[in-house]
Amino acid sequence: MEAAARGRGGGVLVALAALLLLALASGASAWAHGHGHGHGGVGAGLVPGAGAGERRYVDLAMRRMESVRSSFGARRDLATSTASSRVYRVTDYGADPTGGADATAAINRAIADAFRRPSNATLTGGIPDLGGAEIHLDGGSYLLKGPLTLPASGGGNVKIHSGSLRAADDFPTDRYLIELSAKAAGGGSPSLSYYYEYVTLRDLMLDCSYRGGGVSVVDSLRVGVDNCYVVHFATDGVAVSGGHETFVRNTFLGQHMTAGGDSGEREFTGTGIRLDGNDNSVSDVVVFSAGTGIMVTGGANAISGVHCYNKAAGFGGTGIYLKVPGLTQTWITNCYMDFTGIVAEDPVLLHVSSSFFLGDANVVLKAVNGVARGVQIVGNLFNGRDKGVDIVQLDGKFATVEQVYVQQNAATGMTVRSTSARGTAEGNGSSWTVDFSPVLLFPDRIGHVQYSLVAGDAFPGHALRNISGNQVVIATDAAVSATVHVLVDQNSN
Ligand SMILES: *[C@@H]1O[C@H](CO)[C@@H](O)[C@H](O)[C@H]1NC(C)=O
Ligand SMILES: *[C@@H]1O[C@H](CO)[C@@H](O)[C@H](O)[C@H]1NC(C)=O
Ligand SMILES: *[C@@H]1O[C@H](CO)[C@@H](O)[C@H](O)[C@H]1NC(C)=O
Repeated sequence: MEAAARGRGGGVLVALAALLLLALASGASAWAHGHGHGHGGVGAGLVPGAGAGERRYVDLAMRRMESVRSSFGARRDLATSTASSRVYRVTDYGADPTGGADATAAINRAIADAFRRPSNATLTGGIPDLGGAEIHLDGGSYLLKGPLTLPASGGGNVKIHSGSLRAADDFPTDRYLIELSAKAAGGGSPSLSYYYEYVTLRDLMLDCSYRGGGVSVVDSLRVGVDNCYVVHFATDGVAVSGGHETFVRNTFLGQHMTAGGDSGEREFTGTGIRLDGNDNSVSDVVVFSAGTGIMVTGGANAISGVHCYNKAAGFGGTGIYLKVPGLTQTWITNCYMDFTGIVAEDPVLLHVSSSFFLGDANVVLKAVNGVARGVQIVGNLFNGRDKGVDIVQLDGKFATVEQVYVQQNAATGMTVRSTSARGTAEGNGSSWTVDFSPVLLFPDRIGHVQYSLVAGDAFPGHALRNISGNQVVIATDAAVSATVHVLVDQNSN
């Protein structure tokens, strides 16, 4: 009995040792030797009667494990030694982590120190490389009477993280809790395009106290807003202006703290995320309260995995507003539009797919100059309340419509609108009409028709006679009993 128990225990030891040695790739021959005894299984090395060779081998493995452990320990000690640390802890600067006293000046001092360049290394276009410096909020909650403004000298490769910031009652209404803006910092040069690069704002709760906004990112490159919770903004949760490649990801934004069905929803204002620039990305984000979820006024922005339930369309809210008429260049995928939809002005290069629209939420194409070109609204799901709301709707007249594909969307409780459709008419006579006006998106626009006429034994002459008003008329030269199948597309190409 006892021998068996020891055997099992030894098995665990040998298994550990084996893993380690495999990792170190230095004991392959010893392991092969253990198997050579023919006991089978990983316990073979320590069963009673195992040779001294195996024991030595196990001892060696355990010693190696110890030495690996202690070298890890040594490295950890090194990392926590603060001699030349570039971690700027705001409590070291006197910031009050209880949120009682104004911490603006203290945190701005920590930021200024973090922005002292450790070397002459630079990022894009001469932006100082701060070497990975961190402004650490020490898990505290800080009161701000004014914004945290990154220095106008610029910088990058730096993080602000791990704490809460709350605007004081007298916080300026036209500012943001955190500002990446050389101009706001009282500097800025017309010769520079970018001031900040690879700045990461992470694990922050930003409470704007209904004063101003959360984060402003101006003329910056590759900024990450990651795992933040931005609430009580009066203007914008996150506002991006100019620059490139701000990534807002894994972040929650709301003007009011609510989990839906809020009695004050009609009064929601503000914008969750404002993208007034190009090449940005918003992914895995929830906007749970705001007048507009995401306002886009620049091109080439990607929006994916966004759940908007900011303010119902019925109350005047918009989930995603694309105000880039003529040069939209936006792709929206995998989103959840929850009682609030997408509005696109004169969409040119717009893709919306794999998204779910709930509660009569839809896509509105709004005419400014009446141009829609290169639009794909495909493969989405819509669920409504049987009020006859169109899944895609036009606001105004479009004179130019090219390469607009609204198709293969599925809906319940809403009216499917599409740019292509099929239909059938059957009867006895010399004219067959298929009315596509209830389904085609654009009025009186058919670019392409294909039909087949099935007339049993009869063999009449037949022709397409009319497509006006999205009604397709097929005529025969003699009265016959026939079925006509028709495919139409609003695109002509
Ligand atoms: C950084 O640049 C300045 C000005 O060119 C120079 O004086 C200084 O020695 C440089 N420092 C390092 C660490 O290279
Ligand atoms: C179709 O109409 C013609 C003449 O109007 C009639 O002779 C014929 O029986 C009808 N056929 C059918 C299938 O109703
Ligand atoms: C097509 O139908 C419309 C509406 O009925 C009519 O006004 C128009 O004259 C027709 N066009 C032709 C070529 O028959």
